[in-house]
Amino acid sequence: MSTKAETLSEIIKNRRSIFPESYTQEEIPTTIIEEILESANYAPTHKLTQPWRFTVIRKDAKAKLGAELGNIYKRVIPAEKFLQKKYDSFAQKTSQADVIIAICIQFHEDKVPNWEEIAAVGCAVQNMALTAEALNIGAYWSSPPLIDHLGDFLGLSENEKCYGLFYMGYHSAEPREAKRTPMSEKVKWMNS
Ligand SMILES: Cc1cc2nc3c(=O)[nH]c(=O)nc-3n(C[C@H](O)[C@H](O)[C@H](O)COP(=O)(O)O)c2cc1C
Repeated sequence: MSTKAETLSEIIKNRRSIFPESYTQEEIPTTIIEEILESANYAPTHKLTQPWRFTVIRKDAKAKLGAELGNIYKRVIPAEKFLQKKYDSFAQKTSQADVIIAICIQFHEDKVPNWEEIAAVGCAVQNMALTAEALNIGAYWSSPPLIDHLGDFLGLSENEKCYGLFYMGYHSAEPREAKRTPMSEKVKWMNS
């Protein structure tokens, strides 16, 4: 039997970003989505600000998001840089995913600096990614610059900002090795 640490390590190391093109059309039960979201709520957070705010985008709302991203792209990209393929990709990716969770942050500038809120939300999203991996659900954090313009679509307040879209779906992707350079190159030990 595996120890808890072995099980956790396996989930951490096996988690890969899985992209919508590999998603099957199988629906993720709502209770499973809630389980994934619940794991986010256990992330550490300075002064317990719990700054993560999520919008779960499913069913018909996915097409609305795809259209919105396309409209934003058309609006912000200079005409000479417009790519029809890129424009089409928004509708395609949002339809391939079963669920898209908008990752947003509510800042509390009177309590903690913004970077701590961003770090806490990074922890929360990693909890979701690991829970998704444990449930054989593919997921990835998408952060196109267009998300800066999603405030109205998501109904965000002045002190809230969108930091990405977490695409999810059951998938048929082959397992793949993580691409990482050795940890020893990134750690200094100080013993005296
Ligand atoms: C904050 C954040 C933003 C990311 N944004 C994107 C993105 O916009 N597009 C993308 O293809 N991958 C994005 N990724 C996923 C990374 O590309 C991916 O984690 C990296 O290539 C390592 O692969 P792995 O997740 O399979 O280990 C993002 C990851 C993080 C943590």
